[in-house]
Amino acid sequence: MVQIHHAPTLKAQGSIVVPLFQDEVKNIKTGNKTLDQYIKNRLAAKDFEAKLHEVFSSHIDQGDKSLTLLLVGLGKKSDCNEEMIRETGGHVCKRLRGLKRIEAQISSTLTDNQLFAFLEGVALANYRVDQFKTDKEPALVLLKSLSIIHTSKNKSWQKELGERLKIVSHVHQVRDLVNTPADNIYPESLAQKAKDISKKYRLKVTILGEKEIVKQKLGLLWAVGKGSVHKPRLITLAYNGGNKNQKPVLLVGKGITFDSGGYNLKPTNFIEDMYMDMAGGATVLGIISACSELKLPINVIAIVAAAENLVSSSAYKPSDIIRAYNGKTVEITNTDAEGRLVLADAISYGIKNFKPRAIIDLATLTGACMVALGDRYSGVFSNNNDLLKALKQAADNTSELVWELPIHPDYEKRLKSEKADMVNCDIKTRMAGASTAAAFLKKFTEEIPWAHLDIAGTAFGNMPRAHDCGGSSGFGLRLVVNYLSNLAKNV
Ligand code: BES
Ligand code: MG
Ligand code: ZN
Repeated sequence: MVQIHHAPTLKAQGSIVVPLFQDEVKNIKTGNKTLDQYIKNRLAAKDFEAKLHEVFSSHIDQGDKSLTLLLVGLGKKSDCNEEMIRETGGHVCKRLRGLKRIEAQISSTLTDNQLFAFLEGVALANYRVDQFKTDKEPALVLLKSLSIIHTSKNKSWQKELGERLKIVSHVHQVRDLVNTPADNIYPESLAQKAKDISKKYRLKVTILGEKEIVKQKLGLLWAVGKGSVHKPRLITLAYNGGNKNQKPVLLVGKGITFDSGGYNLKPTNFIEDMYMDMAGGATVLGIISACSELKLPINVIAIVAAAENLVSSSAYKPSDIIRAYNGKTVEITNTDAEGRLVLADAISYGIKNFKPRAIIDLATLTGACMVALGDRYSGVFSNNNDLLKALKQAADNTSELVWELPIHPDYEKRLKSEKADMVNCDIKTRMAGASTAAAFLKKFTEEIPWAHLDIAGTAFGNMPRAHDCGGSSGFGLRLVVNYLSNLAKNV
């Protein structure tokens, strides 16, 4: 993680980054007259206009010292939102890393919130997957330290910035888990990671192994995972930051460590990335770690339903009828609709054991959601308007965007089964796939306020935002931590 210090003045060496708004640049006052004059000269020469994402770089040698200056455009103030600033931070980070700089100074004339978004973008983009590379000097170095030259009336700006950057370090931990392929991350190794996390962040951990899963009749989780030599695990972490009689928020994450589709096998071009299908699970582990580090005065439970969906003589099959933890029976119409099955049991288990005030599940649940909303919006479904509103507010605050999708009562009816209480997948119409998946989950929520985030399109991708690095984005962590922080303010 990049270390950030507050420095009183600029040093005329190393790398200097100056983020600038188009409408302020003419009268710029960085506190350094030479720099101000230099910027004005560049403006007069039309070398730099401070358009959004524009970067002017110059390298100046002075005797044995050298200076790299990056003038960074933020465009017009009135057109600019926090996400644009965050993305600009991401671009700057990658530019510095491309120049093999590991340190830089940032001269800020921004407001606190603008600076936080910028540095959040820098920190988010300061990430790479290098654990499997034998070449220990990869092309893109990582930034190690940043000096910030910034003045603020708010005495606690450094503390607030520190918290924002702590959250980013948890995003990186989520990305590490999600980016690790399935020969390394399988249910028992994910459970081990959860144990490590529980020690590091002082959380209570409980792992149900194969015997307990069978004994406790978590039938859906068992059905999905029993076909692999790596048997399923139900991972529970508890954070008790609130008082004892305060009901917890229950977070549930889909932890499919590899989704081959099972007997409804996925074809080439659809199967390769399916080691990422535990992104929801990794994200809830990250969220609860962040809650503990931020010492939020609330109680939170995180449950990860971990299983590997494979093909074998002991795998579940289309037409099987399985009894869920809550006693209902489910006819399997498609083994590739496995996420809703493991989530359903985890939700029922969480309700029974923890009596939550609210439930939020995160899951890479449907290709249909990805088709509908692409990779910038997660689908959100809910049975409760207050919860939905609070999540939309958190999405607004963090620019981790959500878009509400409907669960029409008729879509719920499409899960009717001839033989059992329900089917797991509407294979007759195949319409509104994201909604029927959510409708299935809704049947297990017992009317407790619940929201489902379908992160299939946003969790992992090939068209990363500037502050992403390809592969896992860590989407959902900043969003839900913001939601929980806001909740904590109102207790
Ligand atoms: N893990 C997939 C969903 C997914 C697809 C996530 C692409 C990320 C990228 C999920 O288990 C799945 O296979 N869903 C099926 C459901 C269908 C069988 C109703 C799908 O979306 O095709
Ligand atoms: Mg599947
Ligand atoms: Zn899946």
